[in-house]
Amino acid sequence: MELVFATHNKNKLIEIKALLPHYIKLLSLDDIGCTEEIPETSDTIEGNAILKAEHVKNRYGYNCFADDTGLEVEALNGEPGVYSARYAGDDKDDTANVRKLLSQLENKENRNAQFKTAIALNLNENQNLFTGICKGEIIKEQRGDKGFGYDPVFKPNDFEYTFAEMNLSEKSKISHRGKAFRALIAYLSK
Ligand code: IMP
Repeated sequence: MELVFATHNKNKLIEIKALLPHYIKLLSLDDIGCTEEIPETSDTIEGNAILKAEHVKNRYGYNCFADDTGLEVEALNGEPGVYSARYAGDDKDDTANVRKLLSQLENKENRNAQFKTAIALNLNENQNLFTGICKGEIIKEQRGDKGFGYDPVFKPNDFEYTFAEMNLSEKSKISHRGKAFRALIAYLSK
């Protein structure tokens, strides 16, 4: 069975390909000739995942899954949320995003935050949504040089170190993305 993962990100594709059951042939957006920027106009993480999966299914006719992730910070009423990639501007600059986040949280006592990944799957006539959440806190200074995005300032609950101080396999065991993808894989493996 062919299944499209609505991403241009080669690393994400390789990672998930290794985990899927063998009867699934995973295709990227490039493989199906989709070079356009798929609109992500929803104001929720779940909504954006659904928009992307529907777009591929409706316009290209493929079974498809799409993911969307955001960081939700309690003291900022859930921001940056759907705007996580572009928090400090359209150039999606991780360093500037982290700097802005730390400055928004200056003098705030509540540092609780969570990452959320939503995966929408359009398979034949059915649609399913899988969600993974990782709760933690935003620390005051950056620590670690692994990972990407907000990893250097995100310390998951029950851990003494940040995502950026963990290797990928350690992070995946507890991360939002790991949880959501394991739920998708369990469903597809049934
Ligand atoms: P995407 O939906 O996976 O492209 O994620 C959107 C944005 O959320 C990224 O550009 C990052 O800023 C942030 N983000 C997503 N996942 C992570 C993560 O695991 N660690 C840190 N930041 C992340």
